[in-house]
Amino acid sequence: MFNSKIIGVGKYLPKNVVSNADLEKTMDTSNEWIVERTGIQERRHIKKGDNDGVATMGVKASKIALERANINAQDIDLILLATLSPDYYFPGSGVLVQDALEIPDCPAMDIRMQCSGFVYALATADQFIKTGMYKNVLVIGSEYHSGGLDMTSRGRNVSVIFGDGAGAVVMTRTENNKEGILSSHLHSEGKHAKELSLIGPNTGRWVPEIITENDPEDISYYPYMNGQFVFKNAIVRFTEVINEGLKKTGWSANEIGMLIPHQANLRIAQFVQKKFGLSDDQVYNNIQRYGNTTAASIPIALTEAWEEGKIVPGTKVVLAAFGSGFTWGSVMIQW
Ligand code: UT7
Repeated sequence: MFNSKIIGVGKYLPKNVVSNADLEKTMDTSNEWIVERTGIQERRHIKKGDNDGVATMGVKASKIALERANINAQDIDLILLATLSPDYYFPGSGVLVQDALEIPDCPAMDIRMQCSGFVYALATADQFIKTGMYKNVLVIGSEYHSGGLDMTSRGRNVSVIFGDGAGAVVMTRTENNKEGILSSHLHSEGKHAKELSLIGPNTGRWVPEIITENDPEDISYYPYMNGQFVFKNAIVRFTEVINEGLKKTGWSANEIGMLIPHQANLRIAQFVQKKFGLSDDQVYNNIQRYGNTTAASIPIALTEAWEEGKIVPGTKVVLAAFGSGFTWGSVMIQW
């Protein structure tokens, strides 16, 4: 058995910055409310006409990760792309990335696990590498939320949170089983599927029905979130799944070099930090600048932490996520 390790990280954020003050212009909200309840000060939205999307952002992040990994795109054996906002209903965006990177025929798979998507994708890549089936895997998280949000007061509890962006990592095989991904822990609980969901475009309502309905009051095309219920579940599951990883690896909380929680809400991250008695240096947050980019939030934060020199060889890194499904998971990495 091999281990897998990350050898290159990259990120891409659209240039268009949307502040809380910008949102105040289209909906009944305030900078105070957003900062106090979520920690978010600004986020990025793709500007219409910029010709950007999930695949193009994923490609830009991937090119940086590949360069840092010092390998050619053509040496990638598998692409895993985590997103809840694919460019098309089908096919998935992974194949669009494959085409743009000019990788002839490697498998390209979309992972539809929402906020936990990147953690699920890393765990999946790890398994393919561990068994020896693939050597180099490109793992991407990319989201384009802004085009599908209800930017009126009706959608404010969700729309102020989400942002656009992408992150990517290159993983490869290592024969040193003391480094790389040491363990991963995945869970889901489908009974809460609708508590954080977008159910509008679905196979129960095929196209002719959707076109003839054309109902401006139909909010099923916008994301729905039962905020407080999600919040309460999130803090419990984050805690459980980090504990699961600590138990498996035998690490104590104070040995954690960097915890990168999915950037759902700064208050959730602060709760988790307090629960494990971690210092500010042990937790990375950038939700203040990018909002919640769901599957992209962990690889973007991982890239920034690495760029800032906060993750170096030897650092014990913990990734943890919770989101729609409900789904949750953690990955323990000896960098
Ligand atoms: O990423 C996947 C996982 N996601 C999460 O983990 C998110 C979990 N949930 C949350 O982060 C929080 O529940 C929210 C940030 C979504 C909402 O914060 P909250 O403190 O739970 O607020 P709330 O939904 O209980 O709403 C409180 C009040 C309500 O007004 P009333 O009924 O008290 O008069 C809302 O209508 O705040 C109002 N409100 C807003 N006011 C200004 C809701 N959204 C806004 C807004 N601006 N954007």
